[in-house]
Amino acid sequence: MLFDLRPKERLSDLYGRREDFDELSRYVESGLWVVVLGRRMTGKTSLVKTFVREKKGVYVNLMDVKGMEGLVERLASSAGLQLRELRLGLQFAELKWTKAAGNIFATLQDKVVVFDEVQEIVSPQFLKLLKNLWDTYPRLRLIFTGSYVGVLKKLAEPSSTTPLFGRQPAKIILKPFTREMSIDFLQKGFRQFKLIPKQSELEEAVEKLNGYVGWLTYYGNFRCVRKEPHDEALENSLREGVKIMREELNRFLENKKRETYLKVLKTAVFGARWNEIAEKVQVNRKVLSEAVKKLVDVGFLSKDAEVYVVPDPVLREAVKRMRG
Ligand SMILES: Nc1ncnc2c1ncn2[C@@H]1O[C@H](COP(=O)(O)OP(=O)(O)OP(=O)(O)O)[C@@H](O)[C@H]1O
Ligand SMILES: [Mg+2]
Repeated sequence: MLFDLRPKERLSDLYGRREDFDELSRYVESGLWVVVLGRRMTGKTSLVKTFVREKKGVYVNLMDVKGMEGLVERLASSAGLQLRELRLGLQFAELKWTKAAGNIFATLQDKVVVFDEVQEIVSPQFLKLLKNLWDTYPRLRLIFTGSYVGVLKKLAEPSSTTPLFGRQPAKIILKPFTREMSIDFLQKGFRQFKLIPKQSELEEAVEKLNGYVGWLTYYGNFRCVRKEPHDEALENSLREGVKIMREELNRFLENKKRETYLKVLKTAVFGARWNEIAEKVQVNRKVLSEAVKKLVDVGFLSKDAEVYVVPDPVLREAVKRMRG
């Protein structure tokens, strides 16, 4: 069912991602490691879960996992292994856990293993483990994804200081749907409930939610499953979206000059040139260019013909509703 809120796991439920799926297959078959990038709610988890199910691989969700011990536990349970034997003789030291992770991979070396929510892993041992795996198990294929753009980018573009340097993984960037695809997606979803929505309602939903399949799924679900009328379903999906984007933004703003960043975003909500931003934000040039660059890097801001803008309509709403 297209309007199911959980990540999709079947090709028949995976709308509009055939090309990405095939590209992923090609990369994996050619032995590359792959990083699946994309803004929030573009369907990264759905793509990799479907892929893993088709290829009989292992899906590991690293949500809330901080160190190597957590990783080993999650990995073992995802791979259906008993952890008790692994624990024997191990002390609670990061290095030992790294070794344990290596042992598990020895049993998985022909498989595709997906790490989702990799942004959660802060242990530097993780990158070291990856380097070892790369050197030791040439047939092991790894796919990485997550929901926090910055960390994923780092993995995708290893700098000379990280152990992954020189082992550039392939990148797949999931784009939001086009307007036509978004409307078609909604129509097909409604049809599964034998409902025919008004064209004008679908158009408004796509205008407000854009081509982000996650927000569109909320809208469709609220209308067809919860039976909400159009206005209510649209407002509720925006509200859900705003909650998620606000959390993401707050997380990004931790340890940063919150006020400056928020001012930049607020100024550029509907588009602004560099000079307008500089006039409003009133900080020195260096600070401002760093803030703008970081915002563009994580995708909260985009630049089109000298105009900076917040491209995601849900993030726009979140920014408008934030005090700062
Ligand atoms: N190709 C698709 N076809 C149909 N529904 C989809 C598709 N991709 C994602 N969805 C739906 O959109 C929502 C978000 O999907 P998913 O969790 O896969 O996105 P994500 O990019 O991993 O999100 P996040 O950025 O939060 O990690 C879910 O409700 C899922 O069912
Ligand atoms: Mg996800």
